[in-house]
Amino acid sequence: MARGAQADVLVIGGGVIGLAVAWRAAQRGLRKVVVVDPSPGGGAAHVAAGMLAPVTELQYGEEPLLRLGMASNERYASFVAELTEASGGEDTGYRRCGTLAVALDSDDREELRELHAFHQRLGLDSTWLTGREARRLEPMLAPGVRGGLHVADDHQVDGRRLLKALIFACERANVVIHRAEAVELLVEDRRAVGARLSTLETVTADQIVLAAGPYSHRLPGLPEGVLPAIRPVKGQILRLRIPEAYRPFLSRNVRAVVRGQHLYLVPRENGELVIGATTEEQGYDTTVTAGGVYELLRDAHELVPGITELPLVETSAGLRPGSPDNAPLLGPTELPGLVAATGHYRNGVLLTPVTADLVAEYLATGEVPDLARPFTPARFSPARPTTKAHA
Ligand code: GLY
Repeated sequence: MARGAQADVLVIGGGVIGLAVAWRAAQRGLRKVVVVDPSPGGGAAHVAAGMLAPVTELQYGEEPLLRLGMASNERYASFVAELTEASGGEDTGYRRCGTLAVALDSDDREELRELHAFHQRLGLDSTWLTGREARRLEPMLAPGVRGGLHVADDHQVDGRRLLKALIFACERANVVIHRAEAVELLVEDRRAVGARLSTLETVTADQIVLAAGPYSHRLPGLPEGVLPAIRPVKGQILRLRIPEAYRPFLSRNVRAVVRGQHLYLVPRENGELVIGATTEEQGYDTTVTAGGVYELLRDAHELVPGITELPLVETSAGLRPGSPDNAPLLGPTELPGLVAATGHYRNGVLLTPVTADLVAEYLATGEVPDLARPFTPARFSPARPTTKAHA
């Protein structure tokens, strides 16, 4: 078996989280950084709509996650500006457009009003609108819309462009990207020391970052109990095209809860309109189903009837990596040498800048930054309970 060179950092998983961690680690002066992934630039971000929505995606009881999301959102503009420069000019499709969450009936309106009150208690910037005011902002909304919340700071980025820019930035920072699967974690004397690859090579490293999304806990060789199970949560999603003559079709992200499902429409500056997403817990299946597409189109049509005029150009499905408390796992695991950057569930694209900064900080200094403390994997260890990620 060929034995590769010793790396400072080996990142297992070349999705948006793994690539951003690798790029930041290289910037922090870690000399040799290696990423392994059979399809770098894939993963959930390749499918995702790329909504950056810490406020409109907020769930009750998730205030620490809100703080992390807000911190990441605040870093986004400078993160993508730096990334564009570092990648040689790649545009990430970052758009500071704001988000409008709307209610389709009086029950939805009550729920949205409660969410607004919750936002106000937390001091978040969100503005209540009547149905008429919401339609004035977005004239394509259905006449029946009963009210809405305008959140000026929930924006969007294009996950595919972000991934492409990260690959270029990694390459320019001398990160080595191996197109191979990590088939076994190598552990010696109770320390993670590297990985064996599908190419039969091995890569050894001082520190190993596990950023393999819903596959993280399944890596052969990972000792039991080091990571909790990361469940795959399927999301089916549609891409439509807004012909020039119809623009601007929507000027900002629009979302609603329709029949209990989160529905969102994300209009890009290049004319793409992304409609998502189903939430299904069915294992590792990524089949696009007629039922999934039907439900998304039916619900989106209720919200914005004009979508039926638009060309449907792509249907796809991805897997969100859901940790047991739906918050990410960031930082050292109980296995020395092994660091987690996984379990971002619905928030991987949003949490990319802050995850990369916090994990790179830990890799460079050995210190867990304060912002990461509620999210270390130790919270799932019965032996060493720490602050819970959720209040
Ligand atoms: N963040 C949106 C989703 O996971 O569907």
